[in-house]
Amino acid sequence: MIDIHSHVLFGLDDGSPDIEVSLEMLRMAGKHGTTDIVASPHANLEYSFDPALIAERKAMLEERNDSGVRVHLGCDFHLQYENIEDAIRNPRKYTIAGGPYLLVEFSDLLIFKTTSQIFNDLLSAGMRPVITHPERNSLLQQRLNELKEWVGMGCSIQVTGQSLLGQFGTKALKFAETLMDEGVVHFVASDGHDLKRRPPVMDAAFAHVHKRWGGITAELLFRENPGAVLCGAEMRGSSVPRKKGIFSLFR
Ligand SMILES: [Fe+2]
Repeated sequence: MIDIHSHVLFGLDDGSPDIEVSLEMLRMAGKHGTTDIVASPHANLEYSFDPALIAERKAMLEERNDSGVRVHLGCDFHLQYENIEDAIRNPRKYTIAGGPYLLVEFSDLLIFKTTSQIFNDLLSAGMRPVITHPERNSLLQQRLNELKEWVGMGCSIQVTGQSLLGQFGTKALKFAETLMDEGVVHFVASDGHDLKRRPPVMDAAFAHVHKRWGGITAELLFRENPGAVLCGAEMRGSSVPRKKGIFSLFR
């Protein structure tokens, strides 16, 4: 599996605090079936995004990485004016592996009325916004139609694996399921921050998606689309709604 969202690089944000934890996180990811992981440190008002420092930390980690898991670079890019302006000036500064895909996290407090225009500007500058874990944002939980509209414009949606397992609460679980059934989820990622509470593992979520939504969706969301992101290619599709059989009446 390929994990496009994690905080595995140490000492940069609220993810891994030191290199030993980062190495353990990579070993854990590898044991649970992840082959590639994108280190995506936050870029927000609390944590500045310094590409030189990030490259240095990645080199330090790779020197001792014995997990077999390949590390790629990206950014947990928060949707705020300074970031947006900087990304439009430097379209590959924040994207995953130097390609077009950009992880975009919404504020929990407000959604810009101009969000469609912002996405339009990012798309026009050659970036492909990936809206991260909308199921965990109480404002976005009310905005299914806008999410679908943004997907229609060329954005995509990443759900967190733990949300699908109910580990972010019932509302996040239900909205994640709605998004899956609406056919607008393109990626599942771990958003791993540590070794315990938010580990960088996806195998349980993969098994769950495989069982509920089928093998085609599981392969798309955990392997094929993330693989396309790493090589800057087109995504292969999005989640396929669950088949409504007679048993679904009793769920
Ligand atoms: Fe994140």
